[in-house]
Amino acid sequence: MDSFVIDGPVRLEGTVAVGGAKNAVLPAMTAALLTEGTSRLERVPHLRDTATMAHLLRVLGARVEHAGGTLRIDTSTYDYCEAPYELVKTMRASIYCLGPLLAKKGRAKVSLPGGCAWGPRPVDLHLMGMEKLGARISLSHGYVIAEAPQGLRGAEIFFEISSVGATINVMMAAVLAQGKTTLVNAAREPEVAEIAETLNQAGARIEGAGGYRIEIQGVRELRPLEHAVMADRIEAGTFLIAGMMTGGDVRVEHCRPDHLHALLEKMQQMGAEIEVGDTWVRVHGSSTLQPVDVTTAPYPGFPTDLQAQIMAALARANGVSLVTETIYPDRFTHVPELRRLGAKIRLDGNIAVVTGGQGLSGAPVMATDLRASAALILSAFAAEGRTVISRVYHMDRGYERIEEKFAALGAAIERGRERDPAEV
Ligand code: UD1
Repeated sequence: MDSFVIDGPVRLEGTVAVGGAKNAVLPAMTAALLTEGTSRLERVPHLRDTATMAHLLRVLGARVEHAGGTLRIDTSTYDYCEAPYELVKTMRASIYCLGPLLAKKGRAKVSLPGGCAWGPRPVDLHLMGMEKLGARISLSHGYVIAEAPQGLRGAEIFFEISSVGATINVMMAAVLAQGKTTLVNAAREPEVAEIAETLNQAGARIEGAGGYRIEIQGVRELRPLEHAVMADRIEAGTFLIAGMMTGGDVRVEHCRPDHLHALLEKMQQMGAEIEVGDTWVRVHGSSTLQPVDVTTAPYPGFPTDLQAQIMAALARANGVSLVTETIYPDRFTHVPELRRLGAKIRLDGNIAVVTGGQGLSGAPVMATDLRASAALILSAFAAEGRTVISRVYHMDRGYERIEEKFAALGAAIERGRERDPAEV
């Protein structure tokens, strides 16, 4: 099992380019199932999750090739409609094949994802949306079985909770439904607008994506997709926080500053100097960071996917900050590991009370999920001495060549291989 060995403290300095967004590319890959022919996606990062999704598409019968940043998905002959537990359990985003399979083939059998490290993470809103579009849904032996032999019909669908996944999944299904679908209380995350744009370029008729209400006029067929994936706002945010908390000077390029408002606002309140261009952001960290309170919220609020990283930075600030997690109340698996590095953090329900200003010191720690791993890396840069982070396969799910990118900014980070006691 791979680990990262990091020697700190370090001041990060230089320029880094952000890759394509994991959370946009995964649904774009399943959206190819709505078409026949070869879809081409550009700027696709080599991640464990994109490899898992490619594997799932191959299981379904598609041909998938990922060379350089280009992903080609040939869906001309696929006919299998089952997403097996073995894949879904390793990547919840596999549920994104439900809408496209149902819309294109009239049937889908997809394993229920189950819980994750930080809570139950249900898919009830995905299923509700498919039912509203006329699908018959049943649950059997841990699988969702969805059928719509006569095709889907447009409907008005209200989401009780704003859900990125349910909005995208139901939107993809509605593209080939008969008539008009309206999604109310749709998620407003940029990834939703991105998928709508990808589908519209292929002939779909979606309006309002990125807003509260989305209207979809069903079409009979789509052309194969041709799209360059948007920049990953969470990767961009991770580098910016790293630059700030190491008192460094980091310029993040090929990103979308307009997707980062909530983060940049907090970073400025903490005392970082921020410069913003069309496609880049530069941060100058300060040796004394101010505490701020952060509450995660659906976009354009502060993203839950940057909560762990900002907490790592707040552990360096001079004073007490409150971090309130409203999307996933239990998403705090990074807290005990940050404590091992010397951070003073107390949990009270969905609120973390971070008392900053403690000296951090390197220690062996364990990555527990994707964004938690990022928080540990950032803290290790700020800590005195050596930190060894095990189970970095979590990090590889969502960040491409992360150690090379940080090393280019001056970090002393190396990938090592640790023997897991269970392997002995
Ligand atoms: C996506 C992102 C994830 C991010 C999250 C919130 C991907 C692949 N993952 O996850 O990185 O942390 O958005 O921005 O894009 N909910 C229900 N029922 C449902 C679906 C969701 O109750 O059927 C709840 C969830 O438990 C959560 C909230 O809705 O409390 C938002 O979750 P959602 O936006 O659906 O997250 P994902 O799409 O799974």
